[in-house]
Amino acid sequence: MHDCHNETRKAETPELKLVSSITEMQEIRQSFCKSKSIGFVPTMGYLHQGHLSLVEASTRACEITIVSIFVNPMQFGAGEDLGTYPRDLERDIELLSAYDVDYVFYPDAKEMYPAGFGTKVEIPALSTGLCGASRPGHFTGVATVVLKLVNITRPTQMFMGIKDFQQTAVLRAMLKDLNLQTEIIACPIVREPDGLALSSRNVYLDAVQRVQALCLHNAIKLIQALYADGITDSNQLIDGATDLISEAGGQVDYIQIVDSTSLTELPTANDNCRIVLAVFIGRTRLIDNAAIRA
Ligand code: PAJ
Repeated sequence: MHDCHNETRKAETPELKLVSSITEMQEIRQSFCKSKSIGFVPTMGYLHQGHLSLVEASTRACEITIVSIFVNPMQFGAGEDLGTYPRDLERDIELLSAYDVDYVFYPDAKEMYPAGFGTKVEIPALSTGLCGASRPGHFTGVATVVLKLVNITRPTQMFMGIKDFQQTAVLRAMLKDLNLQTEIIACPIVREPDGLALSSRNVYLDAVQRVQALCLHNAIKLIQALYADGITDSNQLIDGATDLISEAGGQVDYIQIVDSTSLTELPTANDNCRIVLAVFIGRTRLIDNAAIRA
């Protein structure tokens, strides 16, 4: 029988514990009392205030918080930035120390994908459009790693940023379809004061590109303003935003007005629509999204 009285660990040792072995993480998870609320924040590290807002939400809502840091090779396509993706574990741990985080799980690629690993999780209905169209296989990699992480940590709640709107939808569908008892808590986008959504990839931008990158947020604001003025034709809404992005020096990967639940593109916008876009600023691909009704 499990002894819930051992569960005073948090009060005794408030420091966060680093775990790199899957078996150890599973043993720790098994030692928790059944009734404990476990918050989980999956990340690829190089943490910023966006990530930390999820950490804070988890520590506020849950008795235990586990943060994972793993740059998942399976979700990067050939020619993408797996090799150069920013990493700084020491800095990440220092940042997390300021919060009431209990565990940082940071397995390496061999631990997560040992020789012979072959399972893939696919959610085609939500994964093939938008970012999935430009990054084939990306959401298969995301879903596969997150299913592994959820199985290892078995959280009651998983905290995710709405910044990755499609990712949240894909993972919600996965958890529901596969009957996992983890609820996704979607948290708002944290932005710089000028509106740029925080992203680990913003470090790739030079000073000129940093200014150009504002076109994502400005395009969203333009569409919201036109919609508020009564324009509902999606092509018309998107055309103005596309011009704004080109004039600012960005290159549109996609910009769409989609139904917030099904992610299907709608010819006529309504209040349940989401503006979703991906734009190249130089070689850096940035994404953003917002409700059409500001
Ligand atoms: P990563 O890009 O590190 O993001 C981790 C979490 O932080 C995601 O839920 C993401 O939506 C959230 N996030 C990023 N920028 C944010 C911002 N500006 N405001 C609020 N939340 C933000 O997303 C991934 O990692 C990976 O795909 C992962 C789910 C960890 C699987 O490998």
